[in-house]
Formats: sequence, C-alpha cells, structure tokens
Amino acid sequence: MTASLTALLKPLAERQQPLRQLFAAEPNRAARFSAKACGITLDFSKNLLDDSSWQTLQQLAAQSSIRQLCQQMQAGAAINNTEQRAVWHTRLRQQDLQDLRLNGEDIGAAISACRAQMATLIDQLHQGTYLGYSGKPITDLIWVGIGGSLLGPQMAVEALTPYHCSPVRLHFAGNIDGAIVSDLTKQLQPETTLVVVASKSFGTEETKQNALALRAWFSAQGADKAAIARHFWATSANVQAAAEFGIVPQHILPMWDWVGGRYSLWSAIGLPVALMIGNDGFNQLLAGAAAMDQHFFNAPFSENLPVILALLGIWYINGFGCQAQALLPYSHYLRLLPSYVQQLDMESNGKAVDRRGQPLSDVTAPVIWGDAGTNGQHAYHQLLHQSQLKIPADFLLPLKVAHPLQDHHQRLAAHCFAQTQALMQGKTEQEAYQECLAQGMTAQAAAELAPHKASPGNKPSNTLLLDELSPYHLGALIALYEHKVFCQGAIWQLNSFDQWGVELGKQLSTPIYQALKAQGDAQFDSSTAQLIALFRQQNR
Ligand code: F6P
Repeated sequence: MTASLTALLKPLAERQQPLRQLFAAEPNRAARFSAKACGITLDFSKNLLDDSSWQTLQQLAAQSSIRQLCQQMQAGAAINNTEQRAVWHTRLRQQDLQDLRLNGEDIGAAISACRAQMATLIDQLHQGTYLGYSGKPITDLIWVGIGGSLLGPQMAVEALTPYHCSPVRLHFAGNIDGAIVSDLTKQLQPETTLVVVASKSFGTEETKQNALALRAWFSAQGADKAAIARHFWATSANVQAAAEFGIVPQHILPMWDWVGGRYSLWSAIGLPVALMIGNDGFNQLLAGAAAMDQHFFNAPFSENLPVILALLGIWYINGFGCQAQALLPYSHYLRLLPSYVQQLDMESNGKAVDRRGQPLSDVTAPVIWGDAGTNGQHAYHQLLHQSQLKIPADFLLPLKVAHPLQDHHQRLAAHCFAQTQALMQGKTEQEAYQECLAQGMTAQAAAELAPHKASPGNKPSNTLLLDELSPYHLGALIALYEHKVFCQGAIWQLNSFDQWGVELGKQLSTPIYQALKAQGDAQFDSSTAQLIALFRQQNR
C-alpha cells in the first residue's frame, strides 16, 4: 500500500485561503505563479495555493520517484513493468539518433529509416507520383485505426489546419460503426484511394473490421491481389499479421513495443500529420516535443511545466476530492485536444493498484472532459460557475492566430480571460444585490434575485498561452501533457504505460456477438440477456 496523499493533502486543502484573499494580499501573485517554456506560458496563479501548500507540493515532487523514473525511462529500463517494456516515445522526437541502442538493437537506425520511408511516401503523394492500379495519382487517403492509432493524428491534423498543404484528401475511419466506411466508399474511388491500416497490435477488432470492409470494397470494384497490395499500407508492430492481411513488407511502417499506443503520434502513426502539413512541418512538431522533453528533464521542479501541472492535478484530486478536470481550448483548431488528453490521462493513470499490484490508497486520474471555448460557455459553464462541484480547468489560448479576423481573436481572448477571472473571484450576494439596485430594481426584487445571481467563485484554473499554434508549439503542448501524466504516475507509484482495464469489455463482447448472431450457448445476466433479445427482435 502506498502512503496516502489524501491524508497528507486534505487537511492542508481545508485550511486553504480563498483565491480573492490570496490575490488581494499579494499584488505580484500572477508573476510569482507563472512559468514559461518552449513558447508556452503557464499562469497558475488562479489556483488554491499559498506558500505553505505550494511548498508541500514541491516537497512531494522532490521526494517522489519522478527523477529516478525519468532516468530509468531514458536508460531504456522496462518501466512498463507489467508488460516488461521500455518506454521510449521521447526517442522518436530526438534529433541526434547516433548510437541509440536498446537491448542490442540499433534503434537510432530504425527510427531514421522509418522517418525516411515516411518522407518518401509523403513526397510521392504530394507530387502525384504515387499511382494507383489504374495509373491515376492517389487523391484520397483513408487512415484506419482507433485509440492511440487515431486520436493523436486526428487531433494534430485538425489543430494544424492553417498549415495544410496536401493535394491528397485525408479521411479517418476509427469506430466499428459501419456508417463510417459505408459513407467513405460512397464518395471515393478505389483506384485513387490509399488505405493505411494503423494498428500497433494489428489485432484490434474495430481496425480489422474496417480494413476488411475496405479490402472487400476494392475487390468488389475489380481490384486484384496486386492492385490491393499497391493500395494498402500498414503501420504496425505485428508485421506477420499485417502481411497475412495482404500488405507487402515494403508497405509496412514499423512500430515498436517500446512505444505505447497513446504515445505513438511521434512514430509512423504521425503519417497523416506529415501528409497534411508536409515533412518539414512534421519535423517541427517533433522538434517542439523534443524541446519540451529537454525542459522536463532539466528544469528545476519549481519552474518545470509538466511537474507544476502534475502537482496541481494531484492537489485537487487528493486534497480537494475533485474528480473531474476540464480542458477548455479557446481555439477552434484545438477542439479535439480534450478527447486526445482523455485517452492519454485516463488510460494511463486510471488504475486501482500500484506498480507492485498493491491497492492504491488514493484516487488517481481525473475525468478529463471539455470542448472549445466559447461554445462551452453557452452550455456547461453554468455548472462550473455556480454548482457546488469544484472542477479545476485548464484554459488554453494561442496568442497569435493565422486568420485575419483580429477582432474575433480579441473577443475570444477576452472571454477566455474573463472566464478564469469569474471562476476565481465569483460574485458575492451583496455585489449581486447592489448590481440589481443599480439596474433600477426595487430593494425587494433585488434581494430576491441576488442569491440566484451570486457566484461562489474560488474555483481554480490554469491558463496556458501558446505563443502561436504552430507545429512546434503543438508538439511542445502534447509533450507537456504526456510528461504531466508521467509525473502523476510516478507520484501515485503506478504504471502509466499499461491498460489492462480495457480487456474485460473486449473479452465479454465475443460471446455477446455470438449470441446476437444466434450462435454459442453462453449464459448472461438478465439485463444483458434482455438487451440481446431486444436487439435480435429488430435484426432478424
Ligand atoms: O484498447 C485500448 C488500446 O489498446 C489502446 O491502448 C490503443 O491505443 C488502441 O487500443 C489501439 O490499439 P492498436 O494500435 O493495437 O490497434
């Protein structure tokens, strides 16, 4: 059993002074609780934090295994202990790959070869020299994958829309909902479509099912084995399964067991990003992430952005009992970031036992949710402001934008900053009452309305400002969240790199699938049996 952080932090949290008071007492608070690295400024002054609690959190970091685990990670130790795997996704964005060996294997050479193979394919697609089976250039690429093999590229492609320079259109097929492949095959022609099957395991049901449906579509349109081989690529660690599917070895981009699915954007899983923003742009994404790695590895904890975010997260989860964490990008292009970080954080740290398999004494990992601002302000911010729940929020804003509508941008920024201010200071009932009187209400009407208009405030938030939303800054931002999750895992002493919890649902779906097809003789609980029966009634 690990020592309880809740027991340490809860009494401190209960003594915490309100934010209004903290700001009033220290005019310089914002500057003191801010840090900047790799073009990202973190203002964490609007957190329920005073000198004593911040010091305790800093000590927690110093006494934790963050540094030790980090060294082990860099040395290639199998810190993913339940799968006996190294964790080397940071190597994928490293520039200098000389003498990079893991268990005797020349990883540096393998990464370089993969980068070169990706770059060649992207160049051919951009130049229209990759020809389909009928001799026409490829016009569309379908990326088939799910979870870590989809969320990263999908989010990054969206985030970098202003940098798109590809003549080839990109489509994603993730979910096993047949609507996706059905819709795509209505719009596209096999002769000009390239399919990339992205699956580290090459065993994921959704991906296999979608890939098989696309292969059948090719066959139905008259494509023979050689034609299909020409149009199908894979990125996978399971070369044998990809080959059995019919993908030729020279079309299989590698993945490695030392890269977890949700950390794989930097590998060939990033191919859609390279396609859409070009090879140079993709290299910039890697460079931004590599810069954040160096910051994380070297900066003192008091200035270390991932460490700061990690400590604040733990402070709220274990000190204040907060179960959720909002991620609110004030950027249309970053609207998929919450879904991406959801997997990164919840699949990594949503665990019940520590590294040795002992029950954890603290709750770990928040429910990550959110969407682009200002949309949320007209939907769920009401709850953030006035409900009794305390939901810490990360607000994100690129300072400079690519579009010319500057007034839009100023209004967007004004709302972003106003939300953090409103959450922090709130509005007392007395203030609300005075406001009503100033609007010409009678004293009685004002007294009746004031409790409804009052906001408790004292709700914490971080503000992350990106100098701009370039590939470099996006790379740094993603790496920042990766390392935050890493630090939290180290402090909670759990393995952030496995995901055994997802297996049970997969196992149970097999007999249910058979029952839906009226096969097998599995017995189910009454609810599951009823659901199966209802489904079958409508699908005879
Ligand atoms: O089911 C969870 C998971 O294993 C994720 O961790 C992973 O990112 C996703 O499925 C996809 O896996 P694969 O790339 O092997 O298809």
